[in-house]
Amino acid sequence: MTAASDTITNATAVAIEAQRESTAQGRQDVRNLPPNLNHWYALARSSAVGDTPLAVEIWGMAIALYRDDQNQVHALEDRCPHRQVKLSHGAVVGQNLECAYHAWQFDAQGNCAEVPYLEANQKLPSCKIRSYPVREQDGFIWVWPGDRALLDAPVEIPENAQANAKAPVPLAIPEWDHLNYIATVSTIDCEAHFSFLIENLMDMYHGHLHRGFQAWASASLETLEETPDKVDALYTAESYYKIDKIWSISQLFFPALRQLHPEPLRVTYAYPNWTSSLGDDFRIICLFVPISPTHTRAHLIHFVSLNAFWRLHKLPLRFRRFIKDSLFGAAQKMLDGLVGEDVVMLEEEQAAYLGQPDRRPYELNRACLAVQRLIANQATQTAP
Ligand code: FES
Ligand SMILES: [Fe+2]
Repeated sequence: MTAASDTITNATAVAIEAQRESTAQGRQDVRNLPPNLNHWYALARSSAVGDTPLAVEIWGMAIALYRDDQNQVHALEDRCPHRQVKLSHGAVVGQNLECAYHAWQFDAQGNCAEVPYLEANQKLPSCKIRSYPVREQDGFIWVWPGDRALLDAPVEIPENAQANAKAPVPLAIPEWDHLNYIATVSTIDCEAHFSFLIENLMDMYHGHLHRGFQAWASASLETLEETPDKVDALYTAESYYKIDKIWSISQLFFPALRQLHPEPLRVTYAYPNWTSSLGDDFRIICLFVPISPTHTRAHLIHFVSLNAFWRLHKLPLRFRRFIKDSLFGAAQKMLDGLVGEDVVMLEEEQAAYLGQPDRRPYELNRACLAVQRLIANQATQTAP
């Protein structure tokens, strides 16, 4: 067995064991279920992968991301087969990743490509580490941590044959580069199973928690749709912000300028990520990285639209780019504040669950139950 398959086996073993325990208890406990790894996951921001390798992690798999001298990003198992240390401590040499310890090099496919002290009668060792499919798209590095065969030859699912005839692609985030959108990014890092986070994001009745930030108010679930890979919930709600005048952006900083008004609030669990829109002006996306059964990371991206400002669109492109870049992070304080409030609740939920796993919470929101069904369904499709 190779080191690469060792890693897959270890990560999956944790998940399968947790699932087995749940089943043995006569129920499928969503708080222990593994994510379906047969999807693209945004493991890092593009800007985080520069000249030096970056260590990332997903569901027990340690991965080293590196950018080669041709600007291509690669993902290798973060474990040198020589003495098992982390390759992410090393350096990029041309197209290869060099280990910090004895300077063995590995190519993008995970083959040992160089050992600086080979003797005349020695050959390169045939050790190989796992490499992962990678894409760089819309400001993020996307990795496929699941079964590579499913990416190369996707299986057709009868009820959705047309959509599955093509290879799966990372979630499109066109607002990232679009000049009409101002982005803010916050990182979520919480000691909780990913199901707690997605339920938080789909349950818009928790606006109460964020009343200090005036995020939204008076949510009411109107429609709920479920498919094998999606839960879509449409709420009516009230928003404090309306971006229809050139000075409207200042509402992000001055509460006195905000006025409650009705807006549709749509939240979608587009497995394994989350997208949302509040009226025409706000869009928030959450890119999930489940680290372990009790640890979840995610990138939360907040977009404010400048679509209403038609005069702005007539300006030279470089000026519009300047405005977009200058306003990057305009909602940082609010977004980080919302994340901080949510993380406290999520970690308390996880701790309470671990303390008394058989004590069932009450759930009134149909969207949360639909999310649990989707997680359970996707868990059955993850890599064996
Ligand atoms: S431990 Fe990596 S080269 Fe020796
Ligand atoms: Fe929240």
